[in-house]
Amino acid sequence: MPLYELLRELTQVPEPFAVGGPHELWTDPHVQRQMLACHLDPDVAAASREHAFIDRSLDWIVAPLGVGPDTRILDLGCGPGLYANPLAAHGSRVHGIDLSGVSVEEARRRATCDRASFEVGDYLTAPLPEHDVALLIYCDYCALPPGDRRRLLERVRARMVDGGRLLVDLHSEQRFATLTEACTIADRLMDGFWAPGEYVGVHQAILYPEERVALDRYLIAEPERTRTVHAWLAHLTVDEAREEFQGAGFRVVEVLGDVAGAAFDPAAPVYALLATPT
Ligand SMILES: C[S@@+](CC[C@H](N)C(=O)[O-])C[C@H]1O[C@@H](n2cnc3c(N)ncnc32)[C@H](O)[C@@H]1O
Repeated sequence: MPLYELLRELTQVPEPFAVGGPHELWTDPHVQRQMLACHLDPDVAAASREHAFIDRSLDWIVAPLGVGPDTRILDLGCGPGLYANPLAAHGSRVHGIDLSGVSVEEARRRATCDRASFEVGDYLTAPLPEHDVALLIYCDYCALPPGDRRRLLERVRARMVDGGRLLVDLHSEQRFATLTEACTIADRLMDGFWAPGEYVGVHQAILYPEERVALDRYLIAEPERTRTVHAWLAHLTVDEAREEFQGAGFRVVEVLGDVAGAAFDPAAPVYALLATPT
């Protein structure tokens, strides 16, 4: 890419969610392997939360979601199965779907019983199985544009049994208030996360205060190719999220602090919703 075009791209601010999509972030072969290493590092809260949190979350999930031996759980964006496999080992039948082939392969490798199944797919387009419980964990809901949030909820609603449960965590408006804009340029930005060989990376943190949307834009310039990755995050108030859920056929039955059952904290960066079909 000529230098003029490259610099010009860095000065352009797209409309919220107007460009990019999850494929940019989750399906590059090298980045998938880096993401998997983050998922599997017990102490890093990046692609998955720290494993001590996941253990607490798994202990908590069972009761409020009514998880028993015959429960059919749909894990949306399951990653390497850090939730799905323990839940299947606990006796449920779990189906995980994820865009990342590398993560799905790892989830299958870690499966300890045949009650867990995994597929590489896009939860916005792939046929979803009938289920009693759906999980969308680690704020992936907020990575979606409003139209896709609605579409995903409606798709899940259409395949969830009456009385089923949906557990989702979200970024709050309080989190947005802590963010600042920034621009960093570095040789092998993030220590080789974005490409196996030589590259220069530019990271721009761009904020849209009116919409409460944050964009992390990465421009990765390798000797032979240049690409841009957009990671969008919406920040919703509980009332905004509740309205979105209601519009898609869900009633919020509980507002929580996180997916490990903490009490809701209005000052916290994250909260979780437990919802049921209306
Ligand atoms: C932040 S990670 C969370 C993984 C897992 N839920 C956990 O907490 O360990 C988000 C996951 O969702 C997947 N993902 C993102 N968009 C997706 C989509 N449209 N369809 C299926 N998977 C998607 C990514 O590949 C990634 O594994």
